[in-house]
Amino acid sequence: MSTDKQSIDWYNQNAQHYTDHVRNPDDSIYHSLYEKPAMYGLLPDLQDKSVVSLGCGSGEDCEFLRSCGASKVVGIDISESMIGFAKNSYPECDFAVMDMENLAFENESFDFAYSSLAVHYIEDWTKLFADTHRVLKPGGSFLFSCNHPVYSALETSRNDDDMKVRELSRTLDKKTDSATIVGNYTKRRPVTLDTGMAVTTWHKSIGEITHEATSAGFVITDILEPQPLPAMEKVAPKDYETLTKIPNFIVFKLQKL
Ligand SMILES: C[S@@+](CC[C@H](N)C(=O)[O-])C[C@H]1O[C@@H](n2cnc3c(N)ncnc32)[C@H](O)[C@@H]1O
Repeated sequence: MSTDKQSIDWYNQNAQHYTDHVRNPDDSIYHSLYEKPAMYGLLPDLQDKSVVSLGCGSGEDCEFLRSCGASKVVGIDISESMIGFAKNSYPECDFAVMDMENLAFENESFDFAYSSLAVHYIEDWTKLFADTHRVLKPGGSFLFSCNHPVYSALETSRNDDDMKVRELSRTLDKKTDSATIVGNYTKRRPVTLDTGMAVTTWHKSIGEITHEATSAGFVITDILEPQPLPAMEKVAPKDYETLTKIPNFIVFKLQKL
């Protein structure tokens, strides 16, 4: 299944709010102090390179990639409103409303493909990987981040004290010799995470992700499970402690041979 209508509507209706959020690094610390440093740390040399950003949102990463020397940066997003903000803000990049599963670009158009926290809106990445592989030049790479499968496998519940619990666990009752399992790592399924956003992302295992990537012809050159920057410990100690123990995002770097 491609990105569902409710998620697209959510981005269209909340584009202003989302854009304000990501443009304020103090507000979007999961970006500024966690995911972006990990992604930016794995960028190839972009001098005079052509770049496509899939699910570019309001375009901040596109502008950053351009500032790294890229000669052409194209951002695409399925949300018209998000693309509206991107176009108004970063005139030196190109933007288009487009589904990342149907890229309207010629074969071998780009040196580098980038996607930050967007691919997990799609259930099956076979088509997305095949199309990204098609539009990359030989030797080009694809860097993307998504929800970490350990995080999306956790199940949310309330305990007896009405405290929120997120767990992936197996409890064995010795008397009855029966086990209670909460959460599910193995099963691919849609999940609504408790981020306050009415959007649906897909949980899938590391094995499924890597299989879909290599089936499209990519070689996996890096897998990064980021750690938050030490600066997060001061501003958000609970988030910092959680992220140092339970990863929220994961980053993959693929290459087209
Ligand atoms: C969490 S936001 C990330 C935006 C941006 N990459 C950033 O880091 O700020 C996810 C974005 O993916 C876009 N998106 C979801 N499904 C998509 C699809 N099938 N094709 C293109 N964009 C998609 C959404 O509209 C949204 O702008």
